[in-house]
Amino acid sequence: MPRFDTQKSKPEVPGFGRLPRHVAIIMDGNGRWAADRGKPRIFGHRRGMERAKDITRACGDLLIESLTLYAFSLDNWKRPKAEVNALMRLLVKFLNSELEEMMYSNIRFRAIGERGMLPESVLEAVREDEETTAQNTGLNLNLAVSYGGRAEIIGAINRLLEEQRQGSLLSGLIDEKMFAQRLYTAGQPEVDLLIRTSGELRVSDFMLWQIAYAEIYITDVYWPDFTREELYGALKDFEGRERRFGGINAEKER
Ligand code: FPP
Repeated sequence: MPRFDTQKSKPEVPGFGRLPRHVAIIMDGNGRWAADRGKPRIFGHRRGMERAKDITRACGDLLIESLTLYAFSLDNWKRPKAEVNALMRLLVKFLNSELEEMMYSNIRFRAIGERGMLPESVLEAVREDEETTAQNTGLNLNLAVSYGGRAEIIGAINRLLEEQRQGSLLSGLIDEKMFAQRLYTAGQPEVDLLIRTSGELRVSDFMLWQIAYAEIYITDVYWPDFTREELYGALKDFEGRERRFGGINAEKER
């Protein structure tokens, strides 16, 4: 019996004239979704995890290159201990239950964020998923846990300083490419489409460098209701955007 079943069938996906190479999502509104139903916040997080699975699958089916999901920010450590612990347990559950799907769909998994603060149970599951999927060549799934965009930037600067101290930097000057190579997303395309659910108009310390020219899509839908069809809606909207990258019609010039 092979460890992973690779014989399942894939759903039909609609065609798009142009797709983002990298989609990043701020999955917001789990708590409000649960409150609307008179349920505890963790009920919303649980349903949110199911949507994260659906959206990962959909991005894989669409042959999108990278998907980054904001599952837990550095600031989320300030939440009540019971909620933090429940989210950590949910993360472990997600990482364990998704491994088979990631192998089946050729997904390469990475956790991005400050690992030092994560409990051993999460670290263990992260390591297993990263190592098992390391040779996969399809969708890059970046799960942002204990993640902060400013911290990521400071980390890259410190890495460069360290390389300079050790004499491995060829020149004293750094450029954007060298800087981007020291971020968690090194080697992956910049974010083309940033989605935020639940209607808030904030970036919340997410992918501050990588979203420089991202198209932003905000929907009032709470994350637990963000289905594959909602994603198709965001992609349809992206398809119609004129991207100029600060120029006049950069699309033609690129
Ligand atoms: C924001 O909703 C969501 C989070 C802080 C956590 C995101 C977690 C999940 C989607 C579930 C776990 C996912 C995986 C992949 C394991 P909120 O709690 O801030 O909602 P609110 O703004 O309505 O209070």
